[in-house]
Amino acid sequence: MTYALPPLATCIVRWQAQHGRNHLPWQNTRDPYRVWLSEIMLQQTQVTTVLGYYERFLATLPDVASLAAAPADQVMALWSGLGYYSRARNLHRCAQVVMAEHGGQFPRCAQALAQLPGIGRSTAAAIAAFCFEERAAILDANVKRVLTRVLAFEGDLAQARQEKILWALAEQLLPTAASDMPRYTQALMDLGATVCVPRSPSCLLCPLQTHCQASKQGRAQEFPIKTRKTVRRSQSWWLLFLRTPHNQYWLQRRSAQSGANAIWAGLYSPLVYASADELDSVLVNMDGFARTDLPVLQHGLTHRELHLHPVVLHVTQAKQHPLPHNTDGAWWSLSDALAQGLPAPIRKLLADVAQAGGHAD
Ligand code: ADE
Ligand code: SF4
Repeated sequence: MTYALPPLATCIVRWQAQHGRNHLPWQNTRDPYRVWLSEIMLQQTQVTTVLGYYERFLATLPDVASLAAAPADQVMALWSGLGYYSRARNLHRCAQVVMAEHGGQFPRCAQALAQLPGIGRSTAAAIAAFCFEERAAILDANVKRVLTRVLAFEGDLAQARQEKILWALAEQLLPTAASDMPRYTQALMDLGATVCVPRSPSCLLCPLQTHCQASKQGRAQEFPIKTRKTVRRSQSWWLLFLRTPHNQYWLQRRSAQSGANAIWAGLYSPLVYASADELDSVLVNMDGFARTDLPVLQHGLTHRELHLHPVVLHVTQAKQHPLPHNTDGAWWSLSDALAQGLPAPIRKLLADVAQAGGHAD
């Protein structure tokens, strides 16, 4: 299959100047630290959510040196609520590598950027294009959708070979003038986010309509083609919120282990049990305390659908009481707890637990 390549770059560069997003806080800067931070935050999080986090992160850690020197807990707390926490752990490691191995300066080409922790090929290209006008192609999910539609790309992106072909096409479509790279890269992102959206793309408003094979054929929704679906395994967790009459809560830092326990590694959570039985076997030793079961909260992760069962135990004299795995945890007031790095659903549940009120013994 060969694909006729349209003059895509010229069209969308012109379109971006008029209709694209040009006032986001990570635009109009060529500081790789700021661009890198925004790209990592934007990988799996929407612009409107990122805005606040981005400003707060930069106000606290304004450059790569301060990030590298920050304690892991502080980085996790700044990331808390954004989800996909491996991004924050890699961000921290990446800053340390830039300090230790690159003299505090980000490398200036996509190839070298892609060697750093947490920076994939597309993110490396985005940073290189935005900051250094490198002719490097991006190909994130949004751009895959735009390009497969424009080209009516029939390959199955579940196959590595087809994805490689699409990368090569993305490179051939780049503007010839390097100075167009920042705007071109932003144009592809903007088009995917605002016009060529997954369901009902706005083809009538699209600068590529006259060149778009999928639109001509009325088949926009069929692209991209990707057969393998990611299966999300369902999993139930019982969360034990220990609460004292003084409204203190027991939280412990989740360690960075492999497998299922890697979920929320580095963040704080209440005690977690894999089954109701496991929880009950622990509670046998904590007899006499009132228990409240709160409604289940469902939370989707990349490969897992978590069913969180919050259980509040109203403990007294808890410090004397034999706690399970009580070595790496601590008691926190509600406000101190909320200031820690907490996964978004735990933050919500903690608020629910506090709302549910104390228990009169
Ligand atoms: N998503 C990923 N990168 C982006 C950017 N630079 N602007 C807006 N959305 C984005
Ligand atoms: Fe997407 Fe429609 Fe534009 Fe084609 S014409 S790129 S399908 S919005």
